[in-house]
Amino acid sequence: MKCLVTGGAGFIGSHIVNVLLDRGHSVVCLDNFSSRFAVANEKENIKPFLENNEFELVEGDIRNKELLHRLAIDTDFIFHEAALVSVVESMRDPVKTIDVNTIGTLNILKAALTGNVKKVIIASSAAVYGDSPEQPKKEDMTPYPKSPYAISKLDCEYAAKIFYEEYGLKTTSLRYFNVYGQGQDPSSPYAAVIPIFIRKALKNEDIPIYGDGSQTRDFIFVKDVVHANELVMSKGDGRVFNVANGTFISISELAELIIEQTDSKSKIVYEKPRAGDIKNSFADTTEIKKMGFKPRFSLKSGIGNTIEWLKKAMSPTNPPC
Ligand SMILES: NC(=O)c1ccc[n+]([C@@H]2O[C@H](COP(=O)([O-])OP(=O)(O)OC[C@H]3O[C@@H](n4cnc5c(N)ncnc54)[C@H](O)[C@@H]3O)[C@@H](O)[C@H]2O)c1
Repeated sequence: MKCLVTGGAGFIGSHIVNVLLDRGHSVVCLDNFSSRFAVANEKENIKPFLENNEFELVEGDIRNKELLHRLAIDTDFIFHEAALVSVVESMRDPVKTIDVNTIGTLNILKAALTGNVKKVIIASSAAVYGDSPEQPKKEDMTPYPKSPYAISKLDCEYAAKIFYEEYGLKTTSLRYFNVYGQGQDPSSPYAAVIPIFIRKALKNEDIPIYGDGSQTRDFIFVKDVVHANELVMSKGDGRVFNVANGTFISISELAELIIEQTDSKSKIVYEKPRAGDIKNSFADTTEIKKMGFKPRFSLKSGIGNTIEWLKKAMSPTNPPC
């Protein structure tokens, strides 16, 4: 099969590329390298694939319709990961986020339709639930997007549904919860809490927690997210699924677990809660489980894997991330 992975040089996209190549598919990675991390790391995430004959890197933008139409011809599956992913940035420049995330996704759906692509699988986000207190989050709950980023992700889901129902293009949207693992930017102020905590723990620095640490999150290891993408290649058309572990841990417990697993002397320091932080978030994963999804990595094993990667990435022989 021929697959196109947009944002394939990013954190999640590069893991999707890796597995698709392993399965014997040929893969085109479309990325504009707008993520500071990808550039700073000299395209580290995709370096392992550059020598592979089945891999092609196209540096380009999902807002380039002509390019997308060219790429969609002869493509069987599109895994659409490219996006501006920062909620904070989206508050600062909402139009840009909508332009890349919403309009970019419409461009991809249109190109997929014209190119007779078999299916488009779209990365959505738990951000669409906003801070509604209801737990666990179920796919049929009323969404409460609280940022332009969340709005853009909801737009993508609605667009995917319309393209399926009205034009017959197969699509599935996956609402990722808190994804973590190798290749995630640990230095960005918007980065997931896990690489930030691990980095601090490995340096025996204080680990800051905003608020009292009782807030909970549903973390999922990146390889399990790839597994969910693979599963819906052949099922779940026209639908939206939560992709998460379906369990939760408090941020304090998470910090303690990381301190223990890194054998660190770090101390937890509690700071003022951040405005807009969601108190609790965990997913009802019944629907994706019905598709055969079962997370293969416990939080402990996923964190162990991420620690090993960050240890190597932070070693003096490697440039700092
Ligand atoms: N990481 C998470 O916890 C998480 C949670 C929920 C949803 N998501 C979604 O998953 C997807 C992947 O996220 P990630 O964490 O891998 O982010 P990432 O920033 O590592 O990857 C996104 C990639 O998209 C590329 N990109 C951005 N704008 C582009 C454009 N206009 N044209 C082409 N490429 C462009 C970037 O250069 C980057 O390589 C995103 O759609 C994100 O919204 C991620």
